Amino acid sequence: MWEKLALTLPLIQAPMAGVATPALAAAVSNAGGLGSLGLGASTVEQARQMVAALKAQTRGPFNLNVFIHAAPQRDLAQELAWLKQASPVFEKFGATPPSALQEIYTSCLDNPDMVRLLVEERPAVVSFHFGVPSADLCTALKAEGILLLATATCVQEARLLEKAGIDAIIAQGFEAGGHRGMFDPQSPDDQLSTLVLTRLLVRACQVPIIAAGGIMDGYGVAAARASGAMAAQLGTAFIGCPESAADAAYRAALTGPGAYHTRMTPVISGRPARTLPNMFMEHFGERPAHQVPAYPVAYDAAKALHAAAKNHGEFGFAAQWAGQGAPLARTLPAAELVAVLMQEAGGVAL
Ligand SMILES: Cc1cc2nc3c(=O)[nH]c(=O)nc-3n(C[C@H](O)[C@H](O)[C@H](O)COP(=O)(O)O)c2cc1C
Repeated sequence: MWEKLALTLPLIQAPMAGVATPALAAAVSNAGGLGSLGLGASTVEQARQMVAALKAQTRGPFNLNVFIHAAPQRDLAQELAWLKQASPVFEKFGATPPSALQEIYTSCLDNPDMVRLLVEERPAVVSFHFGVPSADLCTALKAEGILLLATATCVQEARLLEKAGIDAIIAQGFEAGGHRGMFDPQSPDDQLSTLVLTRLLVRACQVPIIAAGGIMDGYGVAAARASGAMAAQLGTAFIGCPESAADAAYRAALTGPGAYHTRMTPVISGRPARTLPNMFMEHFGERPAHQVPAYPVAYDAAKALHAAAKNHGEFGFAAQWAGQGAPLARTLPAAELVAVLMQEAGGVAL
């Protein structure tokens, strides 16, 4: 499979909506890995511009990632109560909370224009997060020769993906930064670690497995390969690269003491996601996903609160996703980071 991509390294830079830029993805692809763009929260026009910028910077293969979450089950009373609970914080920053929350982006399954864009752009790889792509979507992309990847957090999800014809499965452990790719955020979660999940999926599936979660250096990449994974997908390791879109506050938090204390929480967006400690979490505390407005509706409140706080120089309400390995993040340019990762991994070849 990797030969088809002409990749030279068993390394995928994770798609990170809002953080992975065309420059970051291009640098990784040019260095022999697979660069990725996270388009899940982008409009079609924004996505088109990002892909054009990426294509201008690399002739290598790249991955375009979309979200395929189920449409949110709206509960207006819960949403209003949520806003009411947030209002003292808005007031603290001299702002009024929005009168209602919005579904700030839609699933690719409900976005035919995004599907058209993927078909037209013909990336080497398309990857999916939060579910199983429809048969029509898989057929349309495969007809263009596009390889399909998707995230699983347990054996059951991986089996569904394999049945749907996904070419390789990303085993996302509980250590991972960003949104947990579980299909149903309210279902029981065994919170499997990357190593255990990788081993389980290598045994349960016929398709190649890609390990993701807590892999920060070449030793981790080598460990993933030794566990039977075909490649490793690293997100947090690339946040500190100068090519990422992380702002100064995010970078400072990534290298600060909070990096040792990442938490998985649904309160920021409505889905469990691993983040650096955040004032939003302090305000809302720990609670199960069903007590939070649906994803991505809840995220609208978090983004509005962050905007209000930021106007007053307070960056503590920003969503700063990061995995458990955050303290190991480095601030090297992406191409250098890829070279160091591969040197540490002892030159593991595909
Ligand atoms: C800042 C950030 C944003 C992320 N955004 C996405 C995304 O848009 N799509 C996706 O499939 N995964 C996303 N993820 C999850 C990654 O694909 C991957 O599972 C995770 O980064 C692996 O764990 P690590 O961060 O410990 O390397 C994101 C992760 C981070 C850290």
